[in-house]
Amino acid sequence: MLHKCLFPAAGYGTRFLPATKAMAKEMLPILTKPLIQYGVEEALEAGCDVMAIITGRGKRAITDHFDISYELEHQIKGTPKEELLTDIRKLINQCTFTYTRQNEMKGLGDAIHKGKVLVGDQDPFAVILADDLCVNPDGDGILKQMVALYNKYKCCIVATMEVPLDEVHKYGVIEGNAIEEGVYMVSNMIEKPESDKAPSNLAVIGRYILTPDIFNVIKKTEPGKNGEIQITDALCEQARKGMVIAYQFKGKRFDCGSVDGFVEATNYFYSQNRE
Ligand code: UTP
Repeated sequence: MLHKCLFPAAGYGTRFLPATKAMAKEMLPILTKPLIQYGVEEALEAGCDVMAIITGRGKRAITDHFDISYELEHQIKGTPKEELLTDIRKLINQCTFTYTRQNEMKGLGDAIHKGKVLVGDQDPFAVILADDLCVNPDGDGILKQMVALYNKYKCCIVATMEVPLDEVHKYGVIEGNAIEEGVYMVSNMIEKPESDKAPSNLAVIGRYILTPDIFNVIKKTEPGKNGEIQITDALCEQARKGMVIAYQFKGKRFDCGSVDGFVEATNYFYSQNRE
């Protein structure tokens, strides 16, 4: 049963310095809601009720955000402002939040491995990178779409989208054969390839469903690109055994780890709100 979602949120967020000097990138707001809250809402919609967050130094605001603030709630009780806390209260009531720290930034693969203590090694689990903000104005959220696919194929699922060839160097890129429309059996994955070495223009974004055997694979994975333990390398190992599916999701994704993507998301949500 898939009901746990891991949020690796230990990165330094250097592209947002100085804003991220003392504050977590995941707490940057798009309008009035921090990035990580959008991710938690997407996970809840997909059927997850345990939110397992990998934090690091300077990330305490995340823990406080998903907790009751008695003083504040007392202050605004009975005023129209109380309504502004409705969504976050719903999350606090419906979900369990668990935390562990990644003490050294050794890469996304290592951060996910740290999550083993939170999600256990028996069941599949979802992974959301909160700085990839995803929405589907026309239907189910991206993670919910992926859970439906997991229920059919029962293997690791990575969300992918087409990117221009001159941008493949920013992503993990897959090679695979289409098995149904928008669904590929992955045979190979390369982390941040040069455009002439990329096997396709299908880039992996920050949504995964992983089976617990991934933990043993990560454990054996040597540091790769940038000296970090890459989840792409561990997934590539699984892909060679036919255990990874790539899914071209329906919806939009904003790269809120970059200033451009963050501004784009802000404009998008602002115009949606006004309508
Ligand atoms: P990024 O590649 O965006 O790195 O990580 P970053 O450190 O957060 O940001 P920049 O590049 O310095 O601006 C992708 C995701 O993986 C998590 C990050 O928190 C982010 O959600 N991550 C990455 C970890 O949790 N631990 C790591 O060691 C690396």
